[in-house]
Amino acid sequence: MALAVADAHVDVSGSLKGKPGPILLLGAPGAGKGTQAKDLAAKWEIPQISTGDLLRTNRDHGTPLGMKAKQIMDEGKLVPDDLVNEMVAERLKQPDTANGYILDGYPRTLGQAKWLDEHVGADAGVLPVIAVSIQVGYNELLRRITGRRNCPVCGTIYNIYLQPPKVDEKCDLDGTPLVRRSDDTEEVFRERMRTYDSQTAPVVEHYRAQGRFEAVDGSKPVNAVAAEVEAAVARLRGSGTEKTEKQNRV
Ligand code: AP5
Repeated sequence: MALAVADAHVDVSGSLKGKPGPILLLGAPGAGKGTQAKDLAAKWEIPQISTGDLLRTNRDHGTPLGMKAKQIMDEGKLVPDDLVNEMVAERLKQPDTANGYILDGYPRTLGQAKWLDEHVGADAGVLPVIAVSIQVGYNELLRRITGRRNCPVCGTIYNIYLQPPKVDEKCDLDGTPLVRRSDDTEEVFRERMRTYDSQTAPVVEHYRAQGRFEAVDGSKPVNAVAAEVEAAVARLRGSGTEKTEKQNRV
């Protein structure tokens, strides 16, 4: 989906105005990609596209893609690029992506990043893909993963240690009993981290080398992280001014 460069700009307050365009949220398991993507997508009125959520929906519906992905996901490994790229291509055809979208957890390999560049036309006079990575330390990630609970109905994300629901194990919004993801065990988390370190690090370098990348400190409270992500997006969509070396560091 091509979006004109003139459609995005930054106002004097540093907030993003105009079309957000394609935004990638990168980060390790539990960094807060889904939490941030949901809030910012709602604010900017663009869809959050989580490849993890799409794969889990396929798995739960027993589709051929879901059957192939199930064991791979349970082991904390990556679903093959061609399957994920095809799934993303289908999703990006939907008209709700016209003003932009937040890709949450994609791309995760250099192959996916290169495919995306070609698919959306990274430098051909359209709003380029930009990437923001949420950085959180290992022990905090482990706590977030083992404490995470999700509402299976509305998708709201909780954490029994850090962001508990008002009533134990029930969704604040609809009262549905919360569920725990099958890959949110300590053992699978360790494998997901190994996969992240070995396969997703080159993705960060890919975008950083092109000046389309910023890192933010994800260890702060949710609202503070959201403000940092928004400011990073605004800078990347503007002239790139006021970007410090720290913000560009992984
Ligand atoms: P996916 O679902 O994408 O999992 P992930 O990348 O491991 O990330 P998570 O969803 O675990 O974490 P998150 O960063 O979204 O954190 P969240 O906001 O929930 O992928 C699952 C699997 O699918 C992969 O392992 C792979 O097999 C497959 N897959 C997916 N995409 C793929 C691709 N592109 N290619 C190949 N395979 C793919 O937050 C975590 C917890 O922390 C929550 O409890 C939350 O309440 C809490 N929290 C969040 N922010 C804060 C904060 N600031 N302060 C305190 N608590 C916080």
